Amino acid sequence: MFMKVLLLLVISTFSLLAEEQINSRKPDVYMGRQIAYTMHANAANWLTRTSREKEESTQEMINALELKEGMVVADVGCGNGYQSLMMAKLVGVKGKVLCVDIQPTMLKLLKGRANKAAVKNLETILGEYEDPNLPKQKVDLILLVDAYHEFTKPAEMLAKMHESLTEKGVIVLVEFRKEDKTVPIKEDHKMSKVQIMKELEANSFKLVRSYDKLPWQHMMIFGKADK
Ligand SMILES: C[S@@+](CC[C@H](N)C(=O)[O-])C[C@H]1O[C@@H](n2cnc3c(N)ncnc32)[C@H](O)[C@@H]1O
Repeated sequence: MFMKVLLLLVISTFSLLAEEQINSRKPDVYMGRQIAYTMHANAANWLTRTSREKEESTQEMINALELKEGMVVADVGCGNGYQSLMMAKLVGVKGKVLCVDIQPTMLKLLKGRANKAAVKNLETILGEYEDPNLPKQKVDLILLVDAYHEFTKPAEMLAKMHESLTEKGVIVLVEFRKEDKTVPIKEDHKMSKVQIMKELEANSFKLVRSYDKLPWQHMMIFGKADK
């Protein structure tokens, strides 16, 4: 029990440090939700901490994406590429991972990790606050892990991501569960299922399925809503 409390304390402290601000002013409120400050690249080590697999069951999450060889996938808000590298293996040399972040330092760290692991089927893209700069109608799946809640222009980002998806393409949100007080993450960095549904449905997406077995996070998969 003592060890569990200690672990939770350490994680909470790191998640607070990770919130060092790159935004010059407090982010807006979107559909009743306070948008979180952007996590600074100075805290990138937190994203590749060794305890992460145990805390978030990251491999299980990646398996639940049901990726196939040859797919074109995007990791938007990729940070230093924790999930990008895992996805690159699964889509294989015929596939590609487009890794988008607004912080050049994050992309530099990702490139370093990819080179070390000899991963070649990924491309880095410097995104903008309202545009991930993805190619139009080319992406089969967009993964957003702990990233959507930081988007300072969520509607604009969703519209651009919608355009980048193929007809059957999906967007996957993985967000810390706001409904669960035991998840040791700051409130603004969590989202409830109801809020996720509200924001995605308002922006022309429909829920296709959800995976509810991750220890701390919601995983919700959306396709394009019928016109
Ligand atoms: C908490 S980190 C998560 C990184 C990675 N997905 C992971 O789970 O390891 C959130 C990342 O989203 C990025 N981000 C925030 N707003 C963004 C935007 N509008 N477009 C692209 N990236 C963004 C931040 O720079 C940061 O690297």
